[in-house]
Amino acid sequence: MCAPGSGRVVGVDPADVAARLGVPVEDVDRVHRLAGDRPSAPLPARADAPAILDRLAVRPDDAAEIMAGWPDPDSPLWTPELRWLLDRSIALVRADLGGHGWLAPGPELPRDRGPAWRHLYVYAYLALTDVVREYHRDHGVTDEVSWMTLADLGRNLAIDRRMRGEGWPVMQAWLTLHARGGLYELGRLQHHRGDGTEIGLHIPESGPLTPEAIDASLDAARAFFPRHFPDERYTAFACGSWLLDPQLREYLPEDSNIVRFQRRFELEPYEQPEGIDCDVEVLRFTFRSLTTPLDQLPRRTVLERAVVDHLKAGRHWQWRRGTFPLGA
Ligand SMILES: CC(C)(COP(=O)(O)OP(=O)(O)OC[C@H]1O[C@@H](n2cnc3c(N)ncnc32)[C@H](O)[C@@H]1OP(=O)(O)O)[C@@H](O)C(=O)NCCC(=O)NCCS
Repeated sequence: MCAPGSGRVVGVDPADVAARLGVPVEDVDRVHRLAGDRPSAPLPARADAPAILDRLAVRPDDAAEIMAGWPDPDSPLWTPELRWLLDRSIALVRADLGGHGWLAPGPELPRDRGPAWRHLYVYAYLALTDVVREYHRDHGVTDEVSWMTLADLGRNLAIDRRMRGEGWPVMQAWLTLHARGGLYELGRLQHHRGDGTEIGLHIPESGPLTPEAIDASLDAARAFFPRHFPDERYTAFACGSWLLDPQLREYLPEDSNIVRFQRRFELEPYEQPEGIDCDVEVLRFTFRSLTTPLDQLPRRTVLERAVVDHLKAGRHWQWRRGTFPLGA
């Protein structure tokens, strides 16, 4: 095990740290405030890292970059402020172990400055892997579910590579759910704990969304939560997604997996959600690009054609929320 660095390497001058990191000073203040001097966690030993990255489904090209930027104590890539941020980011996420709200692990970094900058939050995730696996064990969660859940890291890194880095700012916050024990991958779907009575459903990019695979995953969740989180009383499944936009039915066949998925839900009345531009989200999940001009996007599938034609007609996609009872 090697410690990522002391929390006190850099003096507590947020303006100076922010300038060196090239990020807004408010972001550094936020890390200071949330992490304080709470405990960090060590990274795995460098020698163990390749096997761990493999278990986390990190592909060889991403694994090679992560190993190249490894935060060894004497690595010249790791400036004091980067070491400070890594250490405090781990502490920030760890302080909310068991939490299930969205949580940014720290500021968005300029990732083109090398592997330490590019993968700082991946190193934080690796340090937190041991912490959250202990949390999983305390809740009786099996090793299989634990690793399947945490392996979303590799999937997201591969998608980010396809997206030429455009995907990462959202992913760095998304992955803190896994690292805090807030989300579990049970077969086809990811199941997100909540404060109230709903289990949130997320759909990873892992092949077709067949009704059979969904049924199996819902059944797994019905057994999983009472067993491992008996104090949480869920009565419904919920989902917020571009996949629930009823306008998709104008384009997709009735027997498509997306339309069949939609039919499970009772939709809430439409409200433009704060902070989500659904047109951008549809481009993210359909094309894995946020910036390619519409005319240059592929038109291979019925969905790809639908997404572009809809936007070119001056219409907009909707981010919709729906629920259905747990027992249904
Ligand atoms: C959700 C998902 C698995 C559905 O795929 P699916 O099971 O193939 O869905 P359908 O059967 O309804 O597909 C209908 C048509 O749309 C196409 N299609 C579906 N999802 C597509 C996608 N993400 N990109 C391009 N085309 C897609 C299918 O190929 C099919 O077209 P075709 O008949 O011309 O081949 C897929 O869209 C996906 O992996 N999305 C990324 C993850 C995601 O969006 N999660 C939700 C985040 S809020």
